[in-house]
Amino acid sequence: TSEQTLSFYEVVGGEDAFRRLVHRFYEGVAEDPLLRPLYPEEDLTGAEERLRLFLIQYWGGPKTYSEQRGHPRLRMRHMPFVIGEAERDAWLRHMGDAVRSLELPPEREKQLWDYLVYAAHSLVNA
Ligand code: HEM
Repeated sequence: TSEQTLSFYEVVGGEDAFRRLVHRFYEGVAEDPLLRPLYPEEDLTGAEERLRLFLIQYWGGPKTYSEQRGHPRLRMRHMPFVIGEAERDAWLRHMGDAVRSLELPPEREKQLWDYLVYAAHSLVNA
C-alpha cells in the first residue's frame, strides 16, 4: 500500500493557485501610493516571482525559492524597507482581496489568511 499526504500547496490547486494569488496581490500594490514606492524595481515582475516561489515553498510545493535565493530570512530581507503599521495594513488589504479571489473552502482560506496575518505582523520594523 502507498500512503500519501497531500500538501496544502496541492490541496488548494498547486502552482496555478499561487500564481493567481500573487498576481492579484501585485495588481493592488501597483496602484497603491503608500506601498508602490517601497519596491525598488520599476518592474514588479521579479518581486511577484520571488513572493510566489516563497509561498509555494512554504506551503509544501517545490523548493525553487531556496534554490534561487537561499534561506528566506524574511525579517532581514525586509529591513531596507520602512514597514510600519500603515504599510502592514495596506499589504494585508491587498493580500486579503487576493486570498478571497481564490474562493477556497473556508477552512483553507482561514489557514492561509492566518499565516499571512501572522507573517505580516512579524515584519513590522518601524
Ligand atoms: C520582498 C514589502 C510582507 C515575503 C519584499 C520587497 C518589499 C516588500 C518592498 C522587495 C521586493 C523585491 O523582492 O524586489 C513588504 C511589506 C510587507 C511585506 C511592506 C508588509 C508587512 C511580507 C510577507 C511575506 C513577504 C508577510 C511572506 C509571507 C516577501 C518575499 C520577498 C519580499 C519572499 C522577496 C525576498 C527575496 O528573496 O529577496 N517585500 N513585504 N513579505 N517579501 Fe515582503
